[in-house]
Amino acid sequence: MHELPFSQACENNKSHILAVLRAAFAGRGQVLEIGSGTGQHACHFAQQLPQLRWQPTDLPQNLPVLRPRCAAYPGDNLLPPLPLDVRDDPWSVPVPDAVFSANSLHIMSMDSVRCFFGGLAAGMRGDTTLAVYGPFNYGGRYTSDSNARFDQWLAQQHPDSAIRDFEAVDALAREAGFELQSDNEMPANNRLLLWRARG
Ligand SMILES: C[S@@+](CC[C@H](N)C(=O)[O-])C[C@H]1O[C@@H](n2cnc3c(N)ncnc32)[C@H](O)[C@@H]1O
Repeated sequence: MHELPFSQACENNKSHILAVLRAAFAGRGQVLEIGSGTGQHACHFAQQLPQLRWQPTDLPQNLPVLRPRCAAYPGDNLLPPLPLDVRDDPWSVPVPDAVFSANSLHIMSMDSVRCFFGGLAAGMRGDTTLAVYGPFNYGGRYTSDSNARFDQWLAQQHPDSAIRDFEAVDALAREAGFELQSDNEMPANNRLLLWRARG
């Protein structure tokens, strides 16, 4: 059997993220995941939260990485992966009542981060819960030496990639119609930020 694309980070963080999503996505129906990568989060969360329909997406060129694990998923609440580039205008996928994205805002450019929230604002039809996982800076400072080193490494990979300022991201979220619900500490100096659409 061919090995599926694998991320050790996903294996390490998925149970911590799930513990928060279980409550945050209670009563929600469908999740749009942005930048699903290997599909490990999609498969794990779909399996553990069977009341949800989980829609994985990624850049068109990354779908070959995402599809194999999703194709092997045994249940029927994981939808076939769809292409989504947050810079698309308009987005080709609807924005349902829950949205999840992990480790994507520091990879895409800041312009793309603006598109991420612009696309959500344009597509939201009602009460949406947004959960974003990853490293963030606060008050213009790294939260750890390891995040500072990680940011240096990111800049070497691509000049547009960088750990984002929580305050800048929260401002974009507010502009898009969200209100911060909670900022959850995660292992390895990451955060899980939860916003809910303002009424
Ligand atoms: C570091 S990976 C994280 C993958 C997965 N969510 C995880 O936690 O392992 C960053 C993801 O962001 C996606 N991405 C980057 N730019 C994007 C864009 N403009 N629109 C949508 N996804 C994007 C990449 O394709 C990739 O899947």
